[in-house]
Amino acid sequence: MDRRKFLKITGLGLGSVAVLGWGLNRFGIIGSKENYYLQGNYAPVKEIISEDKLEVVGSIPKELSGLYLRNGPNPMGSPNTKKYHWFAGQGMLHGVRIEEGKAIWYRNRLVGGDQSNTHVISHAGKIYAIVEAGGSPVEIDKELNSLSTEPFFGTLQTEGFTAHTKFDSQSKELHGISYAFPRGSYEAHYVVVGKDGRVKRTDLLPLSSGTMLHECAITENYVLVLDLSITFSLYKLGTGYFPFSWNDDHQSRIGLLDRKKKSNEIKWFNIDPCYFFHTLNAYEDTHGNVIVDAMRYQRVFDEDWNGPFTEFPPLLTRWTLNLSNGNAYEQQLDDQPAEFPRIHPNLNGQFNQFGYSLGIGSQQKPDFGRIIKYDFAKNINEVYELHEGEMGAEPVFIPSENQTSEDEGYLMTYVYDRATDKSNLMIFNAQDINLGPIAQIKLPQRVPFGFHGSWVPA
Ligand SMILES: [Fe+2]
Repeated sequence: MDRRKFLKITGLGLGSVAVLGWGLNRFGIIGSKENYYLQGNYAPVKEIISEDKLEVVGSIPKELSGLYLRNGPNPMGSPNTKKYHWFAGQGMLHGVRIEEGKAIWYRNRLVGGDQSNTHVISHAGKIYAIVEAGGSPVEIDKELNSLSTEPFFGTLQTEGFTAHTKFDSQSKELHGISYAFPRGSYEAHYVVVGKDGRVKRTDLLPLSSGTMLHECAITENYVLVLDLSITFSLYKLGTGYFPFSWNDDHQSRIGLLDRKKKSNEIKWFNIDPCYFFHTLNAYEDTHGNVIVDAMRYQRVFDEDWNGPFTEFPPLLTRWTLNLSNGNAYEQQLDDQPAEFPRIHPNLNGQFNQFGYSLGIGSQQKPDFGRIIKYDFAKNINEVYELHEGEMGAEPVFIPSENQTSEDEGYLMTYVYDRATDKSNLMIFNAQDINLGPIAQIKLPQRVPFGFHGSWVPA
């Protein structure tokens, strides 16, 4: 019997905590009792560990030398269980150092300050923990220590930065859309960090809606402004909740800002109400259309005020923006709920044949239980089902040194194992994820469910 059939029969085989979450929400219990996003492997870890004796099952490829880093929320105090939001916990980094195929150490460290909890990126020789909505990037060293909050050699002009940047491998620049509330009013900016690690462009955008701009995307000629249906909520702020909420009155739209002109004029495309935290990629097709692939939520932050996973499942969706007639066309590409999409790190803004994500399961069984690989040329996907009790995280693609095809490389992800209450760093051959992990590095503690990370080559 193959594993997929086995799981269907056992039903609750995967992620009973997550299953409980969906069930509770149906009865409106979430938010009034225990907080779903503080339970199970969402709960914070309290120990700060440095461990250099790591058991490895399988074989780490010899060509891998670097640091696998991931950032996520880890509230160290006693958060208000009714009002705590998954996006609001103090940042904690979990890192594994690998040298020539050997696991050297695991460490976890709190991010300095209390804000930068969402992503950790490297650019121009520096590593930064980053967050949206006004928190300053925190520079991190290769031992995971927080160094300073004067990012980009002190050249950042905006209040805070963004949770997601897009690296353009052609220009070696980093692109981001930031937003914050300086002096109490909403401001959004397009920010470009040059290949020298210094901010080279800061454009104020004509936006006043208070939209949560979690992510952006780039194409060859444009940066995409994702002005979707979550906006700032004064009511939630005033009552002590995470201050962003679903907003029926806000027209969802995708904006194109010309990267190459010195103008902040945006060409807008209205789309059906939705939100997406994460784009997989965007690019311009041979007809001059802009293609955007993202994990679309029908509604989110509406009934559940503590996090994103209990209302509607995120589904990979494509928008085609026709610049000739000004219309946007929407097409669902896959019916498997999935989040945390990743691609080859050098293909932002260009056509990508392959993409990767974490399959989170159906409404009846959300479980973070599978790794998905999409092939957009063949229009197929492959799915690797994790074992019973294992729950994955964002799969980061690491290209091989001398690539001959786009998917030649590895996927790395932390996987929580409910049986041991600890996590492993799993490494997959990206060209054959169905082989299962080719190496598993056993960690001394669990890595709570969190957000985003990067492979920083040695
Ligand atoms: Fe994100």
